[in-house]
Amino acid sequence: MAKVDVLLGLQWGDEGKGKIVDVLAPKYDVVARFQGGPNAGHTLEFDGIKHVLHQIPSGIFREKTKNIIGNGVVLDPVIFKREIESLNKFNLNVLENLYISKKASLIIPTHRLLDQAYENAKGESKIGSTLKGIGPTYQDKIGRQGLRVGDILSDTFRDKFRHLTEIHFAILKNLELNFNWAELEAQFLDAVTFLKQFKLVESEYLINHELQEGSSILAEGAQGSLLDIDFGSYPFVTSSNTVTAGACTGLGVAPRHIGEVYGIFKAYSTRVGSGPFPTELQNEEGELMRKQGNEFGSTTGRPRRCGWIDIPSLKYSIMINGVTQLLMMKADVLSVFPTIKVCTKYQLKDGSITSALPYELVNEKITPVYENLKGWNVPITGNSLNDLPEELSQYIDFLEDELQVPITLISTGPDRLQTILRPLSVV
Ligand code: GDP
Ligand code: IMO
Ligand code: MG
Repeated sequence: MAKVDVLLGLQWGDEGKGKIVDVLAPKYDVVARFQGGPNAGHTLEFDGIKHVLHQIPSGIFREKTKNIIGNGVVLDPVIFKREIESLNKFNLNVLENLYISKKASLIIPTHRLLDQAYENAKGESKIGSTLKGIGPTYQDKIGRQGLRVGDILSDTFRDKFRHLTEIHFAILKNLELNFNWAELEAQFLDAVTFLKQFKLVESEYLINHELQEGSSILAEGAQGSLLDIDFGSYPFVTSSNTVTAGACTGLGVAPRHIGEVYGIFKAYSTRVGSGPFPTELQNEEGELMRKQGNEFGSTTGRPRRCGWIDIPSLKYSIMINGVTQLLMMKADVLSVFPTIKVCTKYQLKDGSITSALPYELVNEKITPVYENLKGWNVPITGNSLNDLPEELSQYIDFLEDELQVPITLISTGPDRLQTILRPLSVV
């Protein structure tokens, strides 16, 4: 039987998942999202056009690929409609190629309001949520009172919707927030009608059938492992399991059917929103990284925090996910630095040195222990391994040696074509 390969971020999101799913999609019959929702912003670039996808899997531009929004996803019909409409001009066959799980959770407008109200109430300790209603929607799912995509087909959907909004209004009453409910409700109900024309399916059957038929399947992660609800820097995390195991529960795929696990990471680190970030550079170097890497959120436009690569956290993510291949993104961004720093260990408050991620990440200061490598300091041109500057090859070898997983792809720019494959090796 075929396997489900999983591609996911090893850092705090925005590693470049969208680009690589698009690059790999021609090799796959199916691309499936398994968690998260419109908090994701996955960028794809080709033929001089840049696309940012939030709800729709990144295989959508490949004509022969089936795209699935799995049961583990939270879906906002309003954002979904907007996204589909923005794709109209590209003549994609979305009604044919896109399948949506009836078991995916529905984000309703009051979830977005609650997200905002909870963040306001947190004040200084706010998470920095994308305010797309992700947390409140997963809360309702776990609290067993949420709505699912399949519910929109029921005659009683409006009653169920109104019932849930009443529950939310009772909470919102105590939290100061201004909104125009009539407008939000009308927009939502219109988007729900729009959603009905799509293939709403039991995607766990679809995906297991595809597996039996020998189809190749790629599961597309959203966010990153360090934002995982269990293993991330809690409470500064998202509300889903972003790790490999999430692909099993978020698609209905048994663990023994998981094949390759592609762990994607930037040649440095970024984070958007609050929370611990041991290697963060709050200086000109960080600003230079942000400028060179155009590090502004794909979903919210917020500036991303930037810093050097962090080996202990990458090792942790590799362990939790069972990564079999590493994909390194945005090496080109580091071309401006004469010296490249690599955090290989952490020094804790008591002076001890560790390469493990400590439990107390939020309240206790962690000092990174760096090794300095010589930078390549020239722009990266060309599209083959031989074109890479010697110092960049040394950087790749150094990381591979530390992480003990082969780095099989190097991305040197945002376009599909700026991608170099590397034969499997661990130096
Ligand atoms: P995702 O959420 O993991 O899909 O990543 P995002 O799309 O949010 O952020 C990645 C950003 O980096 C996007 O703007 C991409 O176009 C861009 N990008 C991807 N790979 C590369 C690369 O190798 N070099 C450069 N300079 N930009 C890249
Ligand atoms: P992609 O898939 C980067 C961050 C938010 C916030 C925290 C919780 O594009 O990599 P949420 O809206 O989920 O309640 O926000 O998680 N966050 C992301 N950061 N990339 C993402 O997705 C993210 N999705 C959520 O900034 O700190
Ligand atoms: Mg993103």
